[in-house]
Amino acid sequence: MAEQKATNITWHEGNVTREERAKGLGQKGGTLWMTGLSASGKSTIAVALEQVLLQRGKHAYRLDGDNIRMGLNKNLGFTAEDRAENIRRIGEVAKLFADAGMIAVTSFISPYRKDRDAVRALHDAAKIPFIEVHIDIPVEEAEKRDPKGLYKKARAAVAAGKGMGFTGVDDPYEAPEKAELAIRTDKVSIADAVLQLIDLLEKHGLLKA
Ligand code: ADX
Repeated sequence: MAEQKATNITWHEGNVTREERAKGLGQKGGTLWMTGLSASGKSTIAVALEQVLLQRGKHAYRLDGDNIRMGLNKNLGFTAEDRAENIRRIGEVAKLFADAGMIAVTSFISPYRKDRDAVRALHDAAKIPFIEVHIDIPVEEAEKRDPKGLYKKARAAVAAGKGMGFTGVDDPYEAPEKAELAIRTDKVSIADAVLQLIDLLEKHGLLKA
């Protein structure tokens, strides 16, 4: 967890309540946190889900691993420390979006349980819904897809005795133990995955004020 460096700072409360925001938007804010291996389908599902929600008049915003690493997190790599900082920052950003009344849909590998649990704790402390979904796929299946050729690259790096620290090949992935939902994306279509997520959002009361 990052240390609090600044001193002499005071929280400044606003006048607009979360309930008022929800009423204005016709929904409650929350974070839908997708975790899973590279090529498991997180980003594809997030894109489809965002579109379906928009068609239903609901406001969602995607926070995507590769995209965020081109901007806010461009100074971070893939060591355990950098991944922890990546997830900490995104956890804070997702919480801000959710506090603003949006449904923040995140797609980060987020391989370490303790980093995801810290984001959950951050949301819990602020009484903001945090819904963790395991986008689950056997590594062999993700490796067959390999849309960016990164599994191939990682296997070659391992064979050459260097390694690449690639999740699922020579870096760990810790599957969630208490995720609100797990979707096996080698068995379920994108459309069905989206339906399951819509159901989940409904069940958690996010799709109404
Ligand atoms: S996380 O582990 O910190 O959550 P994040 O989701 O932001 O990762 O970024 C993962 C994406 O970065 C992958 O989908 C892949 O395209 C790319 N990538 C590049 N190098 C690695 C690596 N060593 N391990 C995992 N993903 C990598």
